[in-house]
Amino acid sequence: MEASQTAVNGAASATASQLLVDRSHRETIGQQFVENPRMTCRNVDVYYGDKRAINNVTLDIGSNEVIAMIGPSGCGKSTFLRCLNRMNDYIDICRVEGEIRLDGQNIYSGEVDVVPLRAMIGMVFQKPNPFPKSIYDNIAYGPKIHGLVATKSETDEVVETSLKKAGLWEEVKDRLDQPGTGLSGGQQQRLCIARTIAVNPEVILMDEPCSALDPIATSVIEDLIDELREQYTIAIVTHSMQQASRVSQRTAYFHLGDLIEVGTTDQIFTRPGHQLTEDYITGRFG
Ligand SMILES: Nc1ncnc2c1ncn2[C@@H]1O[C@H](COP(=O)(O)OP(=O)(O)O)[C@@H](O)[C@H]1O
Ligand SMILES: [Mg+2]
Repeated sequence: MEASQTAVNGAASATASQLLVDRSHRETIGQQFVENPRMTCRNVDVYYGDKRAINNVTLDIGSNEVIAMIGPSGCGKSTFLRCLNRMNDYIDICRVEGEIRLDGQNIYSGEVDVVPLRAMIGMVFQKPNPFPKSIYDNIAYGPKIHGLVATKSETDEVVETSLKKAGLWEEVKDRLDQPGTGLSGGQQQRLCIARTIAVNPEVILMDEPCSALDPIATSVIEDLIDELREQYTIAIVTHSMQQASRVSQRTAYFHLGDLIEVGTTDQIFTRPGHQLTEDYITGRFG
């Protein structure tokens, strides 16, 4: 990362840490705003202690779109994604400033209970992390604790529907009582997606959901993301530009905590408007 900072700032003699301290925030270019936003982020700053990891990010996330977040390692993609469902609350030294709303409601307001919030804005992680429970219980657990199901038959139905939506039902319907951890990596990740879906989310956040998977399992998940878009809004962090161009309609390019550029995925990859975006997508650094 240090090499790219130096190259990008065109100051070969400065150290990376000087650059982090000295340079000011870069203005975002492109289409930060959409007509029907599901989430709105305004002037979001994120600090770890006194180090600022996200600088004044303003961005809408549209309804039923897949937005990809790309950029060099350490640029703040995961940090920003975690702001969207207050996952950063778990990190003691982390402080989020600015405003983030879901359907107009400020998710950082004191009245918001983060447990239902994280059901509404679910998250899928890099490494599939099924609970050490049966396939059935992996899905049933959330709806039970959120009070979405009252009877066994309701629970059965949510389990089946969620597994179907995640494209896993046919593969597991005859072994629902077996441990979720016994599935293949790709199946485990679809199980985690099914678990997220089971609690009726509006938005699904995915942080490099395929980075631990082989190409075949990756392509199954990518097809699934495309189907899920009809019902959900999806924000996906990916280090794969091919993946961003395959699954997303909009792409946001981050660099050293700044949102440099956002636009349609087609525009970002064919006609980037910012030199830093161009350098990244053409593989000059990152
Ligand atoms: N828990 C943490 N504590 C302190 N610093 C962190 C923490 N998580 C991330 N950072 C720092 O914030 C910056 C952005 O990191 P991250 O969001 O993980 O980037 P990306 O996902 O783009 O690789 C990096 O400088 C990283 O070292
Ligand atoms: Mg990350």
